Amino acid sequence: MALIDVVNLSKAFGPKVVLSNVNLQVQEGESLVVLGGSGTGKTVLLRNIMGLLTPDSGHVSVEGKIIAQLSREELFKVRQSIGMCFQMAALFDSMTVFENVAFGLRRHLEISEDEIRARVEECLSMVGMKGTDKLKPAELSGGMKRRVGFARAIALKPKILLFDEPTTGLDPVMTDVIGRVILDLKHELGITTITITHDLKSAFEIADRIALIFRGECIACESPADIKVNPHPVIQQFLRGDADGPFLLDPPPPKRKGQETLP
Ligand SMILES: Nc1ncnc2c1ncn2[C@@H]1O[C@H](COP(=O)(O)OP(=O)(O)OP(=O)(O)O)[C@@H](O)[C@H]1O
Ligand SMILES: [Mg+2]
Repeated sequence: MALIDVVNLSKAFGPKVVLSNVNLQVQEGESLVVLGGSGTGKTVLLRNIMGLLTPDSGHVSVEGKIIAQLSREELFKVRQSIGMCFQMAALFDSMTVFENVAFGLRRHLEISEDEIRARVEECLSMVGMKGTDKLKPAELSGGMKRRVGFARAIALKPKILLFDEPTTGLDPVMTDVIGRVILDLKHELGITTITITHDLKSAFEIADRIALIFRGECIACESPADIKVNPHPVIQQFLRGDADGPFLLDPPPPKRKGQETLP
């Protein structure tokens, strides 16, 4: 059984169809990278997995539990097993690095101050941020903020880590550093990860499988080696980062009811 199972997931906001019949399975310990243009519904996909949004049709299950059918308490429990690294880190600006990483520990666990300190230090050192505990987010660079965000996400020892564009806005070297941190977390902790990224180099380094979302549909989900040689024109254009091709063309107008039968 897949640890995360996205089945025929569709989600629209008003008339705007964002996800349409998306199917994705992530096995335990696997690292899935999701690619797709801006505004194609990648964050919406993660929000459905977290139970922050409800599918219009289809479902998401985590460890066999259908997220949209859980009670508040059950959902709370499942969410504890999922660490979310938000787009742009989303740290609490008024808190120190220590307080940011300790936040979930204080909220969810009844453990002593010494245990909290030990766990925070362990998590900060796992992401290469040892000794920064007294700093405030304003004193950190973009890459450092992301890593503190990771430390906060792993504090509760989640089974699953979701990364939403962990490298956007970072220089190529820091992008590579973040990619390695993600790989280390996967190897050291055996965590199952879904990473959304626009950075193809990290995508190919991190991924066991790569999915590409295009116009609300998952048009491929395969190994890095396979997707590289997939002849689909959209996939090839995306991987080349080329402005010419079907990727940017306007979608065909939606079919009206009964249109198929008109002469
Ligand atoms: N809560 C919401 N209410 C209405 N529309 C929404 C909501 N959340 C997302 N959308 C719309 O859904 C579409 C997909 O948004 P989403 O944030 O998932 O894109 P994305 O693929 O993550 O893009 P990016 O790469 O720029 O982060 C966008 O058009 C967005 O405006
Ligand atoms: Mg997004």
